[in-house]
Amino acid sequence: MNKKKSDEEVYNEKEKFSIRTFGCQMNVYDSDRISEILSENGYEKSDNAENADVLVINTCSVREKPRNRVISVIENVRSKNPGVKVVVTGCVAQLEGESLFENGADFVVGPDWYESIPVLLSGAGNSGSQASMLEQGDENFLTARGPSAGVSAFVPIQKGCDNFCAYCVVPAARGPERSRSEHDILREVHHFIECGAREIYLLGQNVNSWKGNGGFAALLKKICLIPELKRLRFTTSHPADISDELIDAFGSIPQLMPWFHLPMQSGSNRILDLMGRKYDLEHYFSMVKKLRDSRSDIVFTTDIIVGFPGETEEDFIQTVDAVEKVGFEGMFSFMYSVRPDTRAEKMPDHISHEIKAERLKRLQNSFEETLPERLGKYTGTVQEVLVEGESLRDSSAAKGRIPHNHVVNFTLSKPVNSLIGKIVNVKINEVRTHTLYGEMI
Ligand code: SAH
Ligand code: SF4
Ligand code: F3S
Repeated sequence: MNKKKSDEEVYNEKEKFSIRTFGCQMNVYDSDRISEILSENGYEKSDNAENADVLVINTCSVREKPRNRVISVIENVRSKNPGVKVVVTGCVAQLEGESLFENGADFVVGPDWYESIPVLLSGAGNSGSQASMLEQGDENFLTARGPSAGVSAFVPIQKGCDNFCAYCVVPAARGPERSRSEHDILREVHHFIECGAREIYLLGQNVNSWKGNGGFAALLKKICLIPELKRLRFTTSHPADISDELIDAFGSIPQLMPWFHLPMQSGSNRILDLMGRKYDLEHYFSMVKKLRDSRSDIVFTTDIIVGFPGETEEDFIQTVDAVEKVGFEGMFSFMYSVRPDTRAEKMPDHISHEIKAERLKRLQNSFEETLPERLGKYTGTVQEVLVEGESLRDSSAAKGRIPHNHVVNFTLSKPVNSLIGKIVNVKINEVRTHTLYGEMI
């Protein structure tokens, strides 16, 4: 309970904050920065929202009923901690704005304004008033002050999105596409590496269209000149924006890992057109082929939406076939979820929940059926693994990733801690669903 404190207690005690994070990697990155901003301004992090003075809820609205989720988090924490100040950040904050005050939010802060959270909190401390920061368009990016959570560090190179796919709320929630400067990106990469990171994961809604000196492929080359950097990955790529330079980079930069997340969304040209995705299936396949020609062992993962308005059984079958044809090694698949103020919301022929659910199940079953065959190729091979830490289930075993981004749990004869951040050879003995198991050799 957030009981009233004496003056002396207030003087001695730091106010505590807690953060709940939903959504994408950008939100994970942003939550780390919000933590640093609050810590620098005299707050102390607590894992327990029930004894916190401030609760930040960093939200996502890409699917589902995000507003209801935020409200239930607020109601839940308020029932145990009535005095807590609630700060709603992220995409729901930007889209729902001050209407969240009615649901118990004290502060509503859009993605461009996280540096202002301490000022908002202190200003309202006396008056108890509510406040919001929601304008869009700030060119500034947050900057990391502390280390990354593990050996792998996220570095945003872009914010916002200009693609306006018909189903998607991200352009409204995150504003227009803005590129971070090469100078700031390199500075942050150096910072994380000095703090111990060995893998950098570049983030953006559409990283291929990063606008800066020489373009995205040139940026990758510059980052890979840093000697301590062992691995570089990025997400997300748009199939319409992949340059020849990027394709060539996979053949020439050893630190660039042979893994490519390339959202296909649908295997029907008619649906891709309705979605406004700006490519057809033939183009998608030709990108996959060119990337494989450049780096023969590259693997692909994807995102698929089933039940987009107007999707027929025939369109859906084309998606199942296209997924099969590429041979993805990972797939995130979703039922189409109607989002307010998007073009798709107004399209005819919305699909019933039953059909969407049934198609999703069929797609996932078909994918899971053939996955063991595809991942079976790793059994018996020796893979370079970047060691992340202890395995979740067994503290005497370690966990890491192979170049193709699959997680591997492995036994070893040395203490795990002495190997974190190092690359070791692991013989893969077994593959169970999405995880590999092996032993360090
Ligand atoms: N910028 C990235 C990621 C966007 S959000 C990209 O373009 O790939 C991540 C994924 O969520 C998308 O790839 C899409 O598959 C899914 N998604 C976005 N909006 C959705 C909606 N309204 N309903 C269902 N899935 C959606
Ligand atoms: Fe959304 Fe499309 Fe932009 Fe991705 S590229 S964030 S799916 S509008
Ligand atoms: Fe969600 Fe916003 Fe990320 S809608 S996926 S938190 S960009």
